[in-house]
Amino acid sequence: MSQLFEHSQSPVDLECDTVVFAVSHTESGPRLLPSSLSAERSEELAKVLPLLGFEGKTDQVCVSGAAGRLRAKTLTFVGIGEASPTDPNAIRRAAGCVTRTTKSSSIAFDWDLRDESLWQALAEGAGFGAYRFDQYKTSSSSNVEKIYLADTAAAKAGVEKATVIIEAAKLLRDLVNTPPLDLYPESFAKHAENAIKGLPLEIEIWDAEKLEEEGCGGIVGVGRGSHRQPLMVKISYQPADAKSHVAFIGKGITFDTGGISLKTPLHMENMKSDMTGAATVLAATIAAARYNLPVQVTTFLALAENMPGGNAQRPADIVKIRNGKTVEVINTDAEGRMVMADALSLACELDPDSVIDVATLTGAQIVALGTRTAGIMGQGNVPQEIFQASKEAGEEMWVMPIPEETKQANASKFADVKNSGGRSGGMLVAAQFLSNFVGDTPWAHIDIAGPSYNTDGDWGYTCYGATAMSLRTLVRYLSQVD
Ligand code: BES
Ligand code: MN
Ligand code: ZN
Repeated sequence: MSQLFEHSQSPVDLECDTVVFAVSHTESGPRLLPSSLSAERSEELAKVLPLLGFEGKTDQVCVSGAAGRLRAKTLTFVGIGEASPTDPNAIRRAAGCVTRTTKSSSIAFDWDLRDESLWQALAEGAGFGAYRFDQYKTSSSSNVEKIYLADTAAAKAGVEKATVIIEAAKLLRDLVNTPPLDLYPESFAKHAENAIKGLPLEIEIWDAEKLEEEGCGGIVGVGRGSHRQPLMVKISYQPADAKSHVAFIGKGITFDTGGISLKTPLHMENMKSDMTGAATVLAATIAAARYNLPVQVTTFLALAENMPGGNAQRPADIVKIRNGKTVEVINTDAEGRMVMADALSLACELDPDSVIDVATLTGAQIVALGTRTAGIMGQGNVPQEIFQASKEAGEEMWVMPIPEETKQANASKFADVKNSGGRSGGMLVAAQFLSNFVGDTPWAHIDIAGPSYNTDGDWGYTCYGATAMSLRTLVRYLSQVD
């Protein structure tokens, strides 16, 4: 992967497949953004763009033959829309649009960027867009192999930072995209063990027997319907210079059939992605270690397969969560909050400064915010801090409330709480349920059900399947906490 990027004094003069120019969309037509081309050459090229039907709009890409005027074989134009040429989100998206759609294997970006952060955004986008998951195809299609960028100090530093994120995102996306035949709690834990090798991270794994002994009735209950046992994986990063302690929790349902409250086929189709929260916090923890961030991180992956086997838990069962609260299982398809309850309890026992959980928790998230915007809920300052980090990272999130009346929605006749509270405000009701297991700890819950897995058309740097959405926000948050 580190081989993906290369630096060159003059990318535009390279003998590569294509040279990429950025174009913005203005009222007076497409405008070529600063590159190494002379003003006259830029002018000349800009005049051709309307003839190619190219307006410079977001996600618009156009390739033309270079006609021997450059050493590259083709020219690629990509739109950044009406954004400012120094908007990192527009740059990231445009760069990713190119690498996602190109037929070229060697690409040179001729963009005149100043700041390291803009180069980082470009490299991130290019890296995300170049992602392919073709391990299960017997013949793989062509892909980008080399991306040339300027060889300035800013470009080099930006690429170095981006590479950590790109590699973490690849791990995350590979885990999510892997079919549930091959990805289940034990194999997920093995992947985690392999991924942290050589990094200053400790790992501890609790199996079903240990979880039972330790009073983790939520995750044990969910795991009971599957032949594959549930696992709680704890990963710790403890740098000597840590000023604060953040706990991460990820929902790791390796497949969600719904259990006895079985899903319909249409709703089950993409449920291999129900472990995205766990993959995301794992990836973020690895990135923190690779960046040597001065913050202590303790990460819990709550791994289970939600199956309707003969030993599965039933609606009406009552289980006891790690923190002592009892839960009536109304709907076995509300399994995410059950495994999260134990993991949140365990995390809060460590008395961290903040707790952040990431979960593909509710279909209601998609109803409320759509497929590209994640919902943030919680208590204390953390939700706002996550929101701020998401803006800086270029990931769409929105803070949502946990209204008073959701408490009644979760009230049970027979236990302390029930795990499902009707249809209205389903995302908020789920968050209220989780709040029973965090005490007073400052906490953010991020529901990524929609944005984590793309089944709509491809866009920006995002192709079909796992998107890695929320990873950059978490890393950004970690790099700023004090
Ligand atoms: N994993 C699902 C939520 C989900 C739905 C994620 C669609 C991604 C896309 C979760 O376990 C679930 O089934 N939630 C139920 C909760 C309900 C039974 C209270 C839901 O949203 O329908
Ligand atoms: Mn479910
Ligand atoms: Zn689920």
